[in-house]
Amino acid sequence: EKGGWSSFMAKEVSEQPDAVANTIRGRIHDGAVAVPELTAFGDDALAAIRRITIIGCGTAAYAGIVAKYAIEKWAGIPVEVELSHEFRYRDPVITDDTLVISISQSGETMDTLMAVKFAGERGAKTLSICNTQGATIPRESDAVIYTHAGPEVAVASTKAFVAQITALYLFGLHLARVRASLSAEEIAVELHELEGIPEKLATVLRTGEIIRQLAHWMSDTRAVLFLGRHVGFPVALEGALKLKELAYIHAEGFAAGELKHGPIALIEPGQPVFVIVPSPRHSALLHAKVVSNIQEIRARGARIIAIAEQGDAAVLPFADEVIPIPLAAPLFEPILAVVPLQIFAMELATAKGLDVDQPRNLAKSVTVE
Ligand code: F6R
Repeated sequence: EKGGWSSFMAKEVSEQPDAVANTIRGRIHDGAVAVPELTAFGDDALAAIRRITIIGCGTAAYAGIVAKYAIEKWAGIPVEVELSHEFRYRDPVITDDTLVISISQSGETMDTLMAVKFAGERGAKTLSICNTQGATIPRESDAVIYTHAGPEVAVASTKAFVAQITALYLFGLHLARVRASLSAEEIAVELHELEGIPEKLATVLRTGEIIRQLAHWMSDTRAVLFLGRHVGFPVALEGALKLKELAYIHAEGFAAGELKHGPIALIEPGQPVFVIVPSPRHSALLHAKVVSNIQEIRARGARIIAIAEQGDAAVLPFADEVIPIPLAAPLFEPILAVVPLQIFAMELATAKGLDVDQPRNLAKSVTVE
Protein backbone atom coordinates (compact mmCIF):
# COMPACT_ATOMS: atom_id res chain seq x y z
CA GLU A 1 0.00 0.00 0.00
CA LYS A 2 2.99 2.29 0.49
CA GLY A 3 3.45 2.12 -3.27
CA GLY A 4 7.24 1.93 -3.17
CA TRP A 5 7.65 4.62 -0.50
CA SER A 6 9.70 3.92 2.63
CA SER A 7 6.81 4.98 4.87
CA PHE A 8 3.21 6.11 4.70
CA MET A 9 4.40 9.51 5.82
CA ALA A 10 6.80 9.81 2.86
CA LYS A 11 3.96 8.81 0.55
CA GLU A 12 1.52 11.25 2.12
CA VAL A 13 4.01 14.14 2.04
CA SER A 14 4.46 13.48 -1.68
CA GLU A 15 0.68 13.44 -2.22
CA GLN A 16 0.23 17.05 -1.09
CA PRO A 17 -0.15 18.56 -4.56
CA ASP A 18 -3.05 16.15 -5.14
CA ALA A 19 -4.51 16.78 -1.68
CA VAL A 20 -4.86 20.47 -2.52
CA ALA A 21 -5.97 19.89 -6.13
CA ASN A 22 -8.62 17.36 -5.07
CA THR A 23 -9.93 19.63 -2.32
CA ILE A 24 -10.39 22.42 -4.88
CA ARG A 25 -11.74 20.21 -7.67
CA GLY A 26 -15.30 21.05 -8.70
CA ARG A 27 -15.50 23.84 -6.13
CA ILE A 28 -14.54 26.79 -8.32
CA HIS A 29 -16.78 27.91 -11.16
CA ASP A 30 -16.23 31.02 -13.24
CA GLY A 31 -13.88 32.58 -10.72
CA ALA A 32 -16.26 32.04 -7.79
CA VAL A 33 -16.45 29.48 -5.00
CA ALA A 34 -19.08 26.80 -5.53
CA VAL A 35 -19.38 24.72 -2.36
CA PRO A 36 -22.90 23.23 -2.31
CA GLU A 37 -22.42 22.01 1.28
CA LEU A 38 -22.58 25.64 2.45
CA THR A 39 -26.11 26.13 1.18
CA ALA A 40 -27.11 24.39 4.43
CA PHE A 41 -26.67 27.80 6.12
CA GLY A 42 -28.18 30.05 3.46
CA ASP A 43 -26.34 33.18 2.30
CA ASP A 44 -28.35 35.51 4.55
CA ALA A 45 -27.53 33.56 7.68
CA LEU A 46 -23.84 33.46 6.72
CA ALA A 47 -23.83 37.19 6.00
CA ALA A 48 -25.33 37.75 9.46
CA ILE A 49 -22.52 35.97 11.28
CA ARG A 50 -20.66 38.32 13.62
CA ARG A 51 -17.84 36.13 14.85
CA ILE A 52 -16.11 32.88 14.09
CA THR A 53 -14.45 30.53 16.53
CA ILE A 54 -12.24 27.85 15.04
CA ILE A 55 -11.56 24.79 17.16
CA GLY A 56 -9.26 21.82 16.73
CA CYS A 57 -6.30 20.04 18.28
CA GLY A 58 -2.66 19.84 17.28
CA THR A 59 -2.02 20.27 13.58
CA ALA A 60 -5.70 20.97 12.90
CA ALA A 61 -5.60 23.92 15.31
CA TYR A 62 -2.54 25.29 13.49
CA ALA A 63 -4.42 25.10 10.17
CA GLY A 64 -7.05 27.16 11.98
CA ILE A 65 -4.53 29.85 12.93
CA VAL A 66 -3.41 30.14 9.31
CA ALA A 67 -7.04 30.47 8.23
CA LYS A 68 -7.72 33.16 10.83
CA TYR A 69 -5.37 35.53 9.01
CA ALA A 70 -7.09 34.86 5.68
CA ILE A 71 -10.72 34.95 6.85
CA GLU A 72 -10.26 38.17 8.82
CA LYS A 73 -8.59 39.82 5.85
CA TRP A 74 -11.05 38.63 3.24
CA ALA A 75 -14.35 38.61 5.14
CA GLY A 76 -13.68 41.23 7.83
CA ILE A 77 -15.12 39.04 10.59
CA PRO A 78 -13.33 38.52 13.91
CA VAL A 79 -11.94 34.99 14.10
CA GLU A 80 -10.50 33.36 17.18
CA VAL A 81 -8.81 30.00 17.28
CA GLU A 82 -9.00 27.83 20.34
CA LEU A 83 -7.93 24.34 21.28
CA SER A 84 -11.06 22.19 21.50
CA HIS A 85 -10.34 21.02 25.06
CA GLU A 86 -9.83 24.57 26.33
CA PHE A 87 -12.93 25.92 24.60
CA ARG A 88 -15.16 23.33 26.21
CA TYR A 89 -14.09 23.79 29.78
CA ARG A 90 -14.68 27.50 30.16
CA ASP A 91 -17.58 29.84 29.46
CA PRO A 92 -16.95 31.08 25.94
CA VAL A 93 -19.24 33.76 24.56
CA ILE A 94 -21.43 31.91 22.07
CA THR A 95 -24.39 33.58 20.43
CA ASP A 96 -26.62 32.53 17.56
CA ASP A 97 -24.58 34.74 15.25
CA THR A 98 -21.41 32.81 16.16
CA LEU A 99 -20.10 30.25 13.71
CA VAL A 100 -17.96 27.53 15.23
CA ILE A 101 -15.74 25.82 12.68
CA SER A 102 -14.20 22.55 13.80
CA ILE A 103 -11.21 21.09 12.00
CA SER A 104 -10.47 17.40 12.25
CA GLN A 105 -8.76 15.01 9.86
CA SER A 106 -10.26 11.92 11.46
CA GLY A 107 -13.57 13.47 12.42
CA GLU A 108 -13.43 11.35 15.58
CA THR A 109 -11.22 13.36 17.95
CA MET A 110 -13.15 13.25 21.21
CA ASP A 111 -12.01 16.67 22.44
CA THR A 112 -13.22 18.29 19.23
CA LEU A 113 -16.43 16.27 19.06
CA MET A 114 -17.39 17.29 22.60
CA ALA A 115 -16.57 20.93 21.82
CA VAL A 116 -18.78 20.83 18.71
CA LYS A 117 -21.69 19.40 20.73
CA PHE A 118 -21.12 22.03 23.41
CA ALA A 119 -21.17 24.83 20.79
CA GLY A 120 -24.32 23.46 19.14
CA GLU A 121 -26.13 23.19 22.47
CA ARG A 122 -25.37 26.84 23.15
CA GLY A 123 -26.88 27.91 19.85
CA ALA A 124 -23.85 28.36 17.60
CA LYS A 125 -23.93 27.36 13.97
CA THR A 126 -21.41 24.60 13.40
CA LEU A 127 -19.31 23.84 10.34
CA SER A 128 -16.96 20.87 10.16
CA ILE A 129 -13.81 20.66 8.05
CA CYS A 130 -13.15 16.94 7.89
CA ASN A 131 -11.17 14.43 5.84
CA THR A 132 -13.14 11.30 6.67
CA GLN A 133 -16.49 10.75 4.97
CA GLY A 134 -19.35 10.08 7.36
CA ALA A 135 -17.27 10.57 10.53
CA THR A 136 -18.93 11.56 13.81
CA ILE A 137 -17.94 15.26 13.92
CA PRO A 138 -19.47 16.11 10.51
CA ARG A 139 -22.62 14.22 11.51
CA GLU A 140 -22.87 16.36 14.65
CA SER A 141 -22.40 19.60 12.66
CA ASP A 142 -24.85 21.74 10.69
CA ALA A 143 -22.65 21.57 7.58
CA VAL A 144 -19.38 20.01 6.45
CA ILE A 145 -16.74 20.80 3.88
CA TYR A 146 -14.81 17.62 3.25
CA THR A 147 -11.13 17.86 2.51
CA HIS A 148 -10.23 15.38 -0.21
CA ALA A 149 -6.70 14.58 0.89
CA GLY A 150 -7.34 10.83 0.72
CA PRO A 151 -6.79 8.50 3.68
CA GLU A 152 -4.00 9.64 5.99
CA VAL A 153 -2.37 6.62 7.63
CA ALA A 154 0.82 8.00 9.21
CA VAL A 155 0.21 9.35 12.70
CA ALA A 156 1.79 12.70 11.85
CA SER A 157 -0.63 14.83 9.87
CA THR A 158 0.75 16.27 6.63
CA LYS A 159 -1.47 16.25 3.57
CA ALA A 160 -4.56 16.77 5.72
CA PHE A 161 -3.04 20.06 6.98
CA VAL A 162 -2.61 21.57 3.52
CA ALA A 163 -6.07 20.32 2.52
CA GLN A 164 -7.59 21.90 5.66
CA ILE A 165 -6.09 25.28 4.80
CA THR A 166 -7.39 24.89 1.24
CA ALA A 167 -10.94 24.12 2.41
CA LEU A 168 -10.88 27.01 4.88
CA TYR A 169 -9.69 29.36 2.15
CA LEU A 170 -12.58 28.29 -0.09
CA PHE A 171 -14.89 28.99 2.84
CA GLY A 172 -13.27 32.38 3.50
CA LEU A 173 -13.67 33.44 -0.12
CA HIS A 174 -17.27 32.22 -0.17
CA LEU A 175 -17.91 34.30 2.94
CA ALA A 176 -16.26 37.31 1.30
CA ARG A 177 -18.70 37.03 -1.60
CA VAL A 178 -21.73 36.63 0.65
CA ARG A 179 -20.68 39.65 2.71
CA ALA A 180 -19.49 41.61 -0.32
CA SER A 181 -16.25 42.35 1.50
CA LEU A 182 -14.27 41.52 -1.65
CA SER A 183 -15.21 42.22 -5.25
CA ALA A 184 -15.78 39.36 -7.68
CA GLU A 185 -12.46 40.27 -9.32
CA GLU A 186 -10.58 40.17 -6.02
CA ILE A 187 -12.06 36.77 -5.22
CA ALA A 188 -11.13 35.46 -8.65
CA VAL A 189 -7.51 36.57 -8.12
CA GLU A 190 -7.26 34.67 -4.83
CA LEU A 191 -8.87 31.57 -6.30
CA HIS A 192 -6.47 31.68 -9.20
CA GLU A 193 -3.61 31.79 -6.71
CA LEU A 194 -5.08 28.78 -4.91
CA GLU A 195 -5.36 26.84 -8.16
CA GLY A 196 -1.64 27.42 -8.78
CA ILE A 197 -0.60 25.94 -5.43
CA PRO A 198 -0.45 22.22 -6.42
CA GLU A 199 2.21 22.90 -9.03
CA LYS A 200 4.23 25.01 -6.58
CA LEU A 201 3.95 22.23 -4.00
CA ALA A 202 5.44 19.86 -6.55
CA THR A 203 8.38 22.29 -6.87
CA VAL A 204 8.88 22.41 -3.09
CA LEU A 205 8.91 18.62 -2.93
CA ARG A 206 11.93 18.67 -5.22
CA THR A 207 13.98 20.35 -2.47
CA GLY A 208 13.64 17.14 -0.41
CA GLU A 209 17.23 16.05 -0.99
CA ILE A 210 18.76 19.25 0.51
CA ILE A 211 16.59 18.78 3.57
CA ARG A 212 17.43 15.10 3.86
CA GLN A 213 21.13 15.96 4.00
CA LEU A 214 20.52 18.70 6.52
CA ALA A 215 18.57 16.30 8.73
CA HIS A 216 21.34 13.74 8.58
CA TRP A 217 23.95 16.31 9.63
CA MET A 218 21.70 17.36 12.46
CA SER A 219 20.77 13.92 13.76
CA ASP A 220 22.34 14.51 17.17
CA THR A 221 20.66 17.88 17.70
CA ARG A 222 19.03 18.25 21.13
CA ALA A 223 16.77 21.25 20.56
CA VAL A 224 15.47 23.17 17.58
CA LEU A 225 13.64 26.49 17.46
CA PHE A 226 11.24 27.70 14.77
CA LEU A 227 10.42 31.33 14.14
CA GLY A 228 7.76 32.93 11.97
CA ARG A 229 5.70 36.07 11.72
CA HIS A 230 2.15 36.61 10.43
CA VAL A 231 1.09 33.34 8.72
CA GLY A 232 4.64 32.10 9.19
CA PHE A 233 3.95 31.88 12.93
CA PRO A 234 1.54 28.91 12.77
CA VAL A 235 3.94 27.29 10.31
CA ALA A 236 6.65 27.59 13.00
CA LEU A 237 4.31 25.96 15.53
CA GLU A 238 3.59 23.13 13.11
CA GLY A 239 7.29 22.60 12.29
CA ALA A 240 8.04 22.28 16.01
CA LEU A 241 5.16 19.86 16.57
CA LYS A 242 6.30 17.61 13.72
CA LEU A 243 9.82 17.47 15.13
CA LYS A 244 8.64 16.69 18.66
CA GLU A 245 6.30 13.93 17.67
CA LEU A 246 8.50 12.23 15.08
CA ALA A 247 12.08 12.78 16.23
CA TYR A 248 11.47 13.21 20.00
CA ILE A 249 13.52 16.39 19.96
CA HIS A 250 12.66 19.36 22.08
CA ALA A 251 11.31 21.94 19.67
CA GLU A 252 9.50 25.23 20.09
CA GLY A 253 7.78 27.52 17.63
CA PHE A 254 7.72 31.26 18.33
CA ALA A 255 6.31 34.38 16.79
CA ALA A 256 9.47 36.17 15.68
CA GLY A 257 8.32 39.37 17.38
CA GLU A 258 8.28 37.57 20.73
CA LEU A 259 12.01 36.86 20.65
CA LYS A 260 13.08 39.83 22.70
CA HIS A 261 10.29 39.20 25.19
CA GLY A 262 11.99 36.04 26.39
CA PRO A 263 12.93 33.31 23.95
CA ILE A 264 16.11 35.04 22.75
CA ALA A 265 17.65 33.95 26.06
CA LEU A 266 17.64 30.42 24.65
CA ILE A 267 20.03 31.32 21.86
CA GLU A 268 23.55 30.07 22.38
CA PRO A 269 26.27 29.35 19.84
CA GLY A 270 25.28 26.56 17.49
CA GLN A 271 21.56 26.58 18.35
CA PRO A 272 19.68 25.62 15.16
CA VAL A 273 16.81 27.96 14.33
CA PHE A 274 14.46 27.56 11.38
CA VAL A 275 13.09 30.90 10.23
CA ILE A 276 10.11 31.19 7.91
CA VAL A 277 10.85 34.33 5.93
CA PRO A 278 7.92 36.14 4.29
CA SER A 279 8.26 37.28 0.70
CA PRO A 280 9.90 40.73 0.31
CA ARG A 281 7.56 41.47 -2.60
CA HIS A 282 4.40 41.71 -0.54
CA SER A 283 5.48 43.55 2.56
CA ALA A 284 8.93 45.01 2.65
CA LEU A 285 8.32 45.90 6.29
CA LEU A 286 7.39 42.40 7.41
CA HIS A 287 10.30 40.96 5.48
CA ALA A 288 12.74 43.48 6.95
CA LYS A 289 11.51 42.69 10.47
CA VAL A 290 12.18 39.00 10.01
CA VAL A 291 15.60 39.63 8.48
CA SER A 292 16.43 41.81 11.47
CA ASN A 293 15.27 39.02 13.83
CA ILE A 294 17.62 36.70 11.96
CA GLN A 295 20.49 39.15 12.47
CA GLU A 296 19.75 39.42 16.19
CA ILE A 297 19.97 35.69 16.77
CA ARG A 298 22.78 35.17 14.32
CA ALA A 299 24.85 37.69 16.30
CA ARG A 300 24.36 35.39 19.31
CA GLY A 301 25.62 32.37 17.42
CA ALA A 302 22.39 30.78 16.17
CA ARG A 303 22.64 28.51 13.17
CA ILE A 304 20.01 29.77 10.75
CA ILE A 305 18.04 27.63 8.35
CA ALA A 306 15.86 30.01 6.36
CA ILE A 307 12.78 28.97 4.42
CA ALA A 308 12.64 31.85 1.99
CA GLU A 309 11.26 32.82 -1.35
CA GLN A 310 13.34 31.72 -4.30
CA GLY A 311 15.76 34.55 -5.13
CA ASP A 312 15.42 36.40 -1.80
CA ALA A 313 18.98 37.74 -1.69
CA ALA A 314 18.55 39.63 1.60
CA VAL A 315 18.66 36.48 3.74
CA LEU A 316 21.69 34.93 2.05
CA PRO A 317 24.41 36.74 4.06
CA PHE A 318 22.84 35.68 7.38
CA ALA A 319 21.63 32.15 6.73
CA ASP A 320 23.64 28.96 7.05
CA GLU A 321 21.13 27.19 4.81
CA VAL A 322 18.39 28.54 2.61
CA ILE A 323 15.54 26.33 1.51
CA PRO A 324 13.82 28.07 -1.40
CA ILE A 325 10.07 28.10 -1.92
CA PRO A 326 8.32 29.38 -5.06
CA LEU A 327 6.73 32.81 -5.27
CA ALA A 328 3.21 32.87 -3.83
CA ALA A 329 0.79 35.45 -2.44
CA PRO A 330 1.45 35.96 1.31
CA LEU A 331 -1.56 34.06 2.63
CA PHE A 332 -0.63 31.06 0.50
CA GLU A 333 2.98 30.82 1.66
CA PRO A 334 2.19 28.50 4.64
CA ILE A 335 0.97 25.73 2.35
CA LEU A 336 4.41 25.74 0.72
CA ALA A 337 6.65 26.62 3.68
CA VAL A 338 5.35 23.81 5.89
CA VAL A 339 6.55 21.09 3.51
CA PRO A 340 10.32 21.40 4.15
CA LEU A 341 9.57 21.28 7.88
CA GLN A 342 7.55 18.07 7.50
CA ILE A 343 10.36 16.52 5.47
CA PHE A 344 12.99 17.69 7.97
CA ALA A 345 11.18 16.03 10.88
CA MET A 346 10.61 12.85 8.90
CA GLU A 347 14.23 12.62 7.75
CA LEU A 348 15.65 13.41 11.16
CA ALA A 349 13.49 10.69 12.70
CA THR A 350 14.64 8.30 9.99
CA ALA A 351 18.28 9.24 10.62
CA LYS A 352 17.72 8.36 14.29
CA GLY A 353 16.29 5.00 13.28
CA LEU A 354 12.77 5.81 14.49
CA ASP A 355 9.45 4.62 13.10
CA VAL A 356 8.05 7.69 11.36
CA ASP A 357 4.61 6.25 10.77
CA GLN A 358 4.03 5.18 14.33
CA PRO A 359 5.79 7.46 16.84
CA ARG A 360 5.84 6.31 20.45
CA ASN A 361 2.90 7.10 22.74
CA LEU A 362 0.71 8.50 19.94
CA ALA A 363 -2.45 7.28 18.21
CA LYS A 364 -3.76 8.45 14.85
CA SER A 365 -7.16 9.21 16.20
CA VAL A 366 -7.56 10.32 19.81
CA THR A 367 -11.02 9.03 20.69
CA VAL A 368 -10.71 9.57 24.42
CA GLU A 369 -10.67 12.87 26.25
C1 F6R B 1 -0.04 16.02 14.47
C2 F6R B 1 -1.18 15.19 14.74
C3 F6R B 1 -2.17 15.60 15.80
C4 F6R B 1 -3.54 15.75 15.16
C5 F6R B 1 -4.60 16.03 16.22
C6 F6R B 1 -5.98 16.27 15.62
O1 F6R B 1 0.74 15.51 13.46
O2 F6R B 1 -1.36 14.20 14.09
O3 F6R B 1 -1.77 16.79 16.42
O4 F6R B 1 -3.47 16.78 14.22
O5 F6R B 1 -4.67 14.93 17.11
O6 F6R B 1 -6.44 15.16 14.94
P1 F6R B 1 -7.71 15.26 14.03
O7 F6R B 1 -7.40 16.20 12.92
O8 F6R B 1 -7.99 13.87 13.52
O9 F6R B 1 -8.84 15.79 14.87
